[in-house]
Parts: sequence; structure tokens; C-alpha cells
Amino acid sequence: MENDIKEILITKEEIEQKVSELGSILSKEYEGKTPLMVCVLKGATLFMSDLVRHMNIHVEMDFMAVSSYGASTESSGVVRILKDLDTTIEGRDIIIVEDIIDSGLTLSYLVDLFNRRNINSIKIVTLLDKPHRRKVSLTPDLSGFVIPDEFVVGYGLDYNERYRNFPYIGVLKPEVYSR
Ligand code: PRP
Ligand code: MN
Ligand code: MG
Repeated sequence: MENDIKEILITKEEIEQKVSELGSILSKEYEGKTPLMVCVLKGATLFMSDLVRHMNIHVEMDFMAVSSYGASTESSGVVRILKDLDTTIEGRDIIIVEDIIDSGLTLSYLVDLFNRRNINSIKIVTLLDKPHRRKVSLTPDLSGFVIPDEFVVGYGLDYNERYRNFPYIGVLKPEVYSR
């Protein structure tokens, strides 16, 4: 399985360091508040669980399942809500937690959805950003790494549901998805 990876783009240590920095920044920004952290399933699960451990303020966690990729490496643009939030978001400070922003379609859809309810504030934090691939204008408020346009897996990110458990971000060998 490791030999499906062409190269390691971001090591486990680099991820740890960055997630800790992002946690400190958010702790300062939301001091005295209790933000509702919304994890976008499934990709953002590992990032979310590490990030909250670096936040020394009260937070609440909720999970939303949307999917735009399926088994393809290209975003279809069709966002399906598979699981909605359990929390009432009116008046809340929302932090959307994503693993990667690619076309931006998933998040722009979610942000529009949240903005139609009476929230207090909304911010987007993403571990990875592929700005060259945007199909809609969307800029994260906080981002860990800007990465080139290569298909990456690991630390939550999958290809066909696999590789999410890899502790680093790696580039998948093209032959794996052209099989
Ligand atoms: C991936 C990724 C982001 C989204 C980014 O999720 O985790 O949520 O696509 O793509 P976009 O900016 O082009 O919309 P995916 O739909 O593969 O579901 P998953 O998180 O369950 O893997
Ligand atoms: Mn996702
Ligand atoms: Mg996916």
C-alpha cells in the first residue's frame, strides 16, 4: 500500500507543527467565545480531532457529511448533503473545518447554506489549499499549506475511500487511479 505513493508532500511532523500553530491562532481569535467547529466528513476528521486538541478554549463539535467526489478524482460540482448538523446554529460563531479546498464548490455551497440562517460569524479553516483549481471564488480565512495541483491522499484524504489513515500527505501514483 505504501508503494502507491509517489512522494511524500507533507510529513507527519510538518502536519503536527502546522496544526498546533493553527490551534493557537484560533484559540486567540475566539478567546472568550465558544465556537461551533463543523467538521466536513469524512476528509476533515483527522485534522479536526488534532486541531481541537490544540485549542485551549471551549469549543463544540458537530459533523456534516457532504460529498461531491464519489469515486472520481474530479469534483462533480453536485454537492449532496448526507448528514446535516445536530446543532441549532442561530447566533453561533461557526468554524468550518476542511481538509482541502480544491474547486471550492463544496465549501461555497456550505457557506451559502449557513449564511441563510442567522449565524453570528463564519470562518473557514483548511489544512490544504489548491487555489489554482478554483471554479468559484472562495478564500479560506486560515489555511495550513498551499499545494500544487496533484492528487494527494493521507491524513484524512482518500482515493476511493482508501489512504485516509496514512499519517502524512502523499502524492498518489497516477497508475493507481488510471487502473
Ligand atoms: C473532498 C475534500 C473536500 C472537497 C474539496 O471531499 O475532503 O471536502 O472534496 O473539493 P472541492 O473544493 O472541489 O469541493 P469528498 O467529496 O471527496 O468527500 P470525503 O471528504 O468524504 O472524502
Ligand atoms: Mn471532504
Ligand atoms: Mg474524498
